[in-house]
Formats: sequence, C-alpha cells, structure tokens
Amino acid sequence: MTIELLRFTTAGSVDDGKSTLIGRMLYDTKSLFEDQIEQIEAVSAKRGDEYVDLALFTDGLRAEREQKITIDVAYRYFATPRRKFIIADTPGHIQYTRNMVTGASTAELAIVLIDARKGVLTQSKRHGFIATLLQIPHIVVAINKMDLVDYDEDTYRAIVSDYRDFVSKLNAKNVTYIPVSALVGDNVVDPSQNTPWYEGPTLLHHLENVNVGASRNYTDFRFPVQYVLRPNQNFRGYAGQLASGRVRPGDEVVVFPSGLESTIKEVVTANGNLEEAIAGDSVVLTLNDEIDISRGDMIVRTGNLPQKSNELDATICWMGEDPFDPSKTYQLQHTTRVVRAMVTELTYRIDVDTMHRTPAEVLKLNEIGRVQLTTTQPLFYDRYNTNRASGSFVLIDPATNNTVAAGMIRGESRDVDDLMEGETKADDTATRRERSENVVWEAGALDLAERERLNGHKGAVLWFTGLSGSGKSTIAKLLERRLYERKIHTMFLDGDNLRHGLNGDLGFAPEDRVENIRRVSEVASLGYAHGNVVLCSFISPYQRDRNFARSIVPDGNFFEIFAKCDLEVLKRRDPKGLYAKALSGEIKNFTGISAPYEAPEQPELVIETDVATPEQLVDQLIEMLETAGII
Ligand code: ADX
Repeated sequence: MTIELLRFTTAGSVDDGKSTLIGRMLYDTKSLFEDQIEQIEAVSAKRGDEYVDLALFTDGLRAEREQKITIDVAYRYFATPRRKFIIADTPGHIQYTRNMVTGASTAELAIVLIDARKGVLTQSKRHGFIATLLQIPHIVVAINKMDLVDYDEDTYRAIVSDYRDFVSKLNAKNVTYIPVSALVGDNVVDPSQNTPWYEGPTLLHHLENVNVGASRNYTDFRFPVQYVLRPNQNFRGYAGQLASGRVRPGDEVVVFPSGLESTIKEVVTANGNLEEAIAGDSVVLTLNDEIDISRGDMIVRTGNLPQKSNELDATICWMGEDPFDPSKTYQLQHTTRVVRAMVTELTYRIDVDTMHRTPAEVLKLNEIGRVQLTTTQPLFYDRYNTNRASGSFVLIDPATNNTVAAGMIRGESRDVDDLMEGETKADDTATRRERSENVVWEAGALDLAERERLNGHKGAVLWFTGLSGSGKSTIAKLLERRLYERKIHTMFLDGDNLRHGLNGDLGFAPEDRVENIRRVSEVASLGYAHGNVVLCSFISPYQRDRNFARSIVPDGNFFEIFAKCDLEVLKRRDPKGLYAKALSGEIKNFTGISAPYEAPEQPELVIETDVATPEQLVDQLIEMLETAGII
C-alpha cells in the first residue's frame, strides 16, 4: 500500500516566520492560485518590499477568518507529484500550545521553527516537548532566517547542538535539522547555494520522502459510530471512520457499551463494497444481526477489546482562556462519544522550561499537567501510546461550548506511577507495570459459587486499616481463630509479613505504599475469588488505595474496618519501639508522625482499640459478618 498523504503541523510564532514558510512552500510548489499570487505580489510591490511577502497569504486569510468564526485549526492542502500534504496550520501566535495540540492529533510530522538569530528559546523547547508528548513520529527543526546570520555554519551548528542536548532528554525519535530561509527560499523547496556546508535534504524533499504510516495502528480495530443509516426497512448501516485497525466481512465484533455481539456483513462505500477497510477509511458497516447501535457506540473485534473505565489518568493541555475549575463538570468527547467528566485531581503541572513536575492548584492557558478524571459513564479507550485515536479526548466547557483541553489517556487512574512521559528515557520503567496485551483471563475450573457451596459460607475481604500498633493484626488474628473454630476458610495478609517476600522490594515512600497496597489488593481479591474470608492488616494510609482494594471485590463482600486508636496512646504503648525511633528522626516517613494517614471516609466498622477489649471487638466483627450473610 502506498501512502501518499502526509499530515503535518507547524509550530512557531509569526515572528519565527511560520506564515512565510507555509507561504513559501505553497508558492514554490505552485500551489497558490494565480490571482492570489498576483494579489500578494501587488501588495508587496506597493509596500516596496524587496521580497514577495508570503506571510500576506496566510495572514490575510487568517484575519478574514478570525472576523467571521473562531476555528482552532485551518487545514491547507498542497501537492507535489510525489505526495499530497495537509498542513494543520494554527492561527494566532500566542495560543501555540492549544493550536498545536488540536492540529497534531493526526499529524505525522511537526515542524519546529527556530529563529537563527535567537537560538533555542523556551518556546522552541515547548514545541519539541509537545510534539513528543503527542507522539508525532517525526520532528523537523527548521532553523530559519539563515539569511540574517549570513548563512553562518557555526551559528547553525550551535543551535543544532543546543537542541540535540534538549531532545536527548525526551523520547523523540526522528529529529531532522534543516537550515532555511523562508523569506528568500533557501532549502525550502530548492537547495540553496548559500549553504554549501549543508548536505542534507531541502525541507520539501524531506517531507516528500519521510516514512509515514508506520506509526499508525493497523492492529486494533476501533470503529466509533458517527451515525446510523436507515434509508429503508431493509438496510441498516453504521457510518464512521476506522480510528485504527482493519475490518473485513465475516469478522466477529462486539459493540460497546452494550456488549452485544455480531459479525460484519458488509463494508460499504460510495464506490461499492470493500474486501477490507483500514485505519483512516470512512465506511458504512452492516452487521448480520439486528442489534441496537447508536451514535457514540464503538464497534471492535471480539478478542481485541479496549480498556474500560470511568476513572482515568491523563495528560492534558489546557486551552481555555479561563483556568480550569476543579469544581466544574466538563463534557468529555472521546471519539464520537460525549460523557460528563470531573477533574478529580491535578496530579502535577509540567514546567516546560525545566521539565519538572510542580504541584499546582489549577492549569492556565497553554499549561500542561497530569490529571485524574472521573466520568459519569465508562469510556472504552486505549492508552494514547498504543492508539492515538482511541487514546485521546477533548474537554468542552458546557457553558460556552468551547474546547478547553486536549487530553491523552495514560491508563486507569490507579495506574499512576511517578514518571512523566517525555521527562527522561526511563519511560520503559514507566510502562513496566502495564498489562501485556496478550494476556487473557483464564477461567478457573471451579467458580466462586461452587467454592462457596463447598465451604458453607461466602467469601469476603476484611480490610483492617489504622496506624502502626493500633491493633489491626492482633484483632485480625483473634478473629481468625474464632472463624477457624466455626470451620470458616480464612487467609491472613499482614503488612509486616508481606514486606518480607512479595513486597520486599518496597519501602515507605508514598509511591511504594501505593504499590504495596495495589499488590495486596490483587492478592486479597484472588483469595476472595477462591471463597475465603480474607483478613488484610495494613496501615494503608491512603483512602484512594483502599478504594481500589474495594473496587475489585463485589459490593457487599468488602469490609473496611478502621482500627481507631489515639495517637498519644500509641506513642505510649509503642510495642515495636517504632514511634520512639520515628520521633527521634531515626525512621523517616513514619505514619502518624512524619507521614500522613487518611482516616476512612465510610468504613463498614470502626473498632476502637483503645476503648474496648479485643474480645468485644471480635464479637462486633462476627456480628457484622453474620448480619451481612457472609457466615
Ligand atoms: S503501608 O503503609 O504500606 O500500608 P504496611 O501495613 O505494609 O504499611 O507496613 C507497616 C509496618 O511496617 C508497620 O507495622 C511497621 O512495623 C513497619 N514500618 C517500618 N517503617 C515504617 C514507616 N515508615 N511507616 C509505617 N510503618 C513502618
């Protein structure tokens, strides 16, 4: 298959010569209409310009456009005998982040413009960073205005070397540097006599030859339904564009959110039926079964399913004039589907100058941050780094209907790890915990109901949380003994014990605690699935982690038990001598002393270990289990 279309985007301000560069490409490839050329030549001549002011072409259009409507991106088309090009041009030079993000979601190449006189500015870094964040496969750094530095090779080399230094901190793959003068035309379309020391391609030559398509996802079939076609009783088709993957008649598919299954009957286009459609094709699909499908649904292949969640971890670029408001509900558009969403947490803001993460209350125009989102209905998504189409979304302010953010999904909220994309090469580590795509769920030989029948009681997870020394393990062990006497199958998971083996690699930094509880939660859930009453005794200081533990056990089978004990009492008791050490600074990050503890918001039971006797508390627990019908 030949791909003869390249979509690219330009990043840079008018001052960098962006408009002139675009104009130059259109002019030198004879893509401007005669009358447009005459018009700008005339205006330039009237002004006494030495050169034809190509920026007039793009800027002129822009002014016109801005008066009538506000659009985020203007697409310009031009073609050479080798390839067709679509430039996502981005009006306005202040809102470059916003424009770049909007224009770049399908771009395969980004041109970052640098003014040779100014060298690498914050803004040039910002553009490179965003291009990497968006995973635009190719970056061209066009070092412009070479005529104004007398085509000085050293100036060019110094800029290349500066930018290389910067890029080495990113995950950028293909970066090409070209010295150009958009105004005069050096190395844009035609090779320049003025830069004999430069042996690389001209910009256009590079655009014509760069390898495209390799980054597209042809594997995971995702078909967001744009609308349902029902011209008559006998035909029902679903129109849309393949966001990724490929599809053929006979393929087994499933429709989300309903989960209903069918097979593809035909792949219909205006020019007849296709044997196969691929990513980017706009088609109408018909199915062999009459099932209820509407706009916003997603058709995928059975056996290659997207992720499903209503809690997302994402990187967003804020594009609203007003800073984002954590108390507000936004509309989230993901493919063709719109749901309501709240930003529940601004995890951090990325300072694009230094690439550091900084805590922040809000995101302002052009700022980039990592957030946690909750949506009213689950999304069927892929991670942005496996699928740019089904991994991206925009946020819309329902009051104004303006797009206020563009986002890239990193995964489910709980997958939060401590690394940031683009920050270091350690990205491999960041993805290390992500699920392999080739793992399927192997059903057990016995199901839970059979095990519960065999055991004569239900499975459950009892999650004891509280400060160190609050009596969690003491009570859990006593309870276990009592349950044993009643022939109840139990399993005991304890912080200190698991930290000897499974969690031996973890310490007490916040991210280690998160991982500790994540692993334990998974083990507890397996224990539950095998019919046990699982007793978990962990400080588990964060509500969010306990919520996660709860989320993977059915409602009614998870009990959060708060072992409540006055801190002063704990310091006095101090059975392991840890409080004394923590108070003297010998142990760092000690919960209650130098690390936080979030008391449960809605525990099933509070056991006051400094008030009642252990026996009384165990009685309360037994009663709770009986009332809930577990035992
Ligand atoms: S959790 O915070 O990640 O849930 P966990 O319950 O597994 O902690 O382990 C807590 C046990 O580790 C405590 O009972 C204590 O014996 C020991 N410990 C050692 N250092 C610390 C610390 N800095 N903070 C809390 N507990 C610690």
